[in-house]
Amino acid sequence: MTAKERLGPAALSAKIMPADAAAALIEPGSTVGMSGFTGSGYPKAVPQALAARMEAEAANGRPFRLRIWTGASTGPELDGALARANGIEFRLPYNSDPIAREKINAGEMEYFDMHLSQVAPMAWQGFLGPLDTALIEVTGIRPDGSLIPSSSVGNNKTWLDRARNVILEVNHWQNAALDGMHDIYYGTALPPHRIPIPLVRPQERIGEAGLRCDPAKIIAIVETNAPDRNLPFAAPDAAAYGIAGHLIEFFRHEVGKGRLPESLLPLQSGVGNITNAVLSSLLEGPFNGMTAFTEVIQDGMLDLLDAGLLTMASATGFSLSREGALRLNDNMPRFRDKMILRPQEISNHPELIRRLGCLAMNGLIEADIYGTVNSTHVMGSRIYNGIGGSGDFARNAYVSIFMTPSTAKGGKISAIVPQVSHVDHITQDVQVIVTEQGLADLRGLSPKQRAEVIINNCSHPSYRPALQDYYRRARQSSYGQQSPSLLTEALSWHQRFIDTGSML
Ligand code: COA
Repeated sequence: MTAKERLGPAALSAKIMPADAAAALIEPGSTVGMSGFTGSGYPKAVPQALAARMEAEAANGRPFRLRIWTGASTGPELDGALARANGIEFRLPYNSDPIAREKINAGEMEYFDMHLSQVAPMAWQGFLGPLDTALIEVTGIRPDGSLIPSSSVGNNKTWLDRARNVILEVNHWQNAALDGMHDIYYGTALPPHRIPIPLVRPQERIGEAGLRCDPAKIIAIVETNAPDRNLPFAAPDAAAYGIAGHLIEFFRHEVGKGRLPESLLPLQSGVGNITNAVLSSLLEGPFNGMTAFTEVIQDGMLDLLDAGLLTMASATGFSLSREGALRLNDNMPRFRDKMILRPQEISNHPELIRRLGCLAMNGLIEADIYGTVNSTHVMGSRIYNGIGGSGDFARNAYVSIFMTPSTAKGGKISAIVPQVSHVDHITQDVQVIVTEQGLADLRGLSPKQRAEVIINNCSHPSYRPALQDYYRRARQSSYGQQSPSLLTEALSWHQRFIDTGSML
């Protein structure tokens, strides 16, 4: 596919323009649905042109802010640039940009953190409000006007369908061989017209290779040539290897008991270094013929695919290191046959996660002794990233696993606490907790049984006596004995860190 061919039918050529001209077509105060999922496939030029315009307008006393919807996190050219220009009034759903995080925590940006599977259905229900513009990165435009998606699908189908106007960024950096990797399902509907989604194995395709787009809605086409955000993965440390080791042992045990097949069940792996380390450890494990039904494809999955241990991976985007992105790009035709990128309402669909029986592996900020998990907030009020797809998977998985080092901030904070400072996942959605100290299999246990296993197996030895002491006293004087708790003292654990800089 030549550079010219990527730009689609000649009838669209009048719409090709520079990024600042396209940015000038976006009204202050309007809502823009942008592509992008965990740093892949997000628009790179128009958001920066918008940020420049916002700064210029603000300098002239005319604040210019937008409501931004995306698939999930994007990159510094989008969230970072717009947040720095103080140009985001409202943002959904998932953010990991540090500048945007500061704005949110300073109370300068409204942030609606929601389950990723629910974004498209909620947009269709209409109460998020109208969508003025869809700003979507694509690999190319086909002669028939359909779009070759980029390195993520996210909510692009919904933004293109719902928006009044469409601006496309055709990114020549994205490999044309991405064409054929995507599976865009057009069968979703709102109740009472919903029907079962006809996907029973992760490797099946149920949709179309391209995105439909009404050419009459296209107001601008901008050419770019820029890579996705690629964050390096930290080399796994002892904690990551410890966690991975306990988890692999757990999987072996489950296979031995006949509760999991030898090829395991479709893997879902959350974002971050620990989950990437677990994937790397699976390289040495005894399992093969594995599949993944997940949100993002990380470096560890490329290794598993190359080793032939993973037969295919279904996701909605990539989260790769620079080396991982180059490796994918250099070998796209080979990887394309083993990967499917779907809209996030499908990659994260509760019906499918439950049907396929995913093994969900996600990170956490803190867990309490009963197994309630906080994935999003530090000290109850400061958001870190967002819930992402962890709720979609945790509630519906065959086995729902959460992983964390047992301490944070160089040992000053225990990841296991008497009571979490914020709740993302209730105890019923948390079946296994793993730290480098050990694994707590919570399935079938009452709250008191869970507390003993979590404290003894997962907490760090420097915090274990304090947790045991708290739990013993809660057993003596709690108001009830189903989930013994000393409410004021439980929350003072968090206060102790704020007051003294350490929980010890
Ligand atoms: N108290 C205070 N801070 C804590 C903490 C705790 N108990 N636990 C972790 N932190 C801090 C870390 O110090 C680090 O801070 P820094 O950025 O200042 O260094 C930060 O939180 C992230 O911790 P880290 O150990 O680097 O985590 P990670 O890369 O394994 O990510 C989550 C952990 C929870 C942030 C991440 O998994 C997440 O965003 N989850 C929610 C979304 C999700 O699960 N998506 C899955 C579907 S794709």
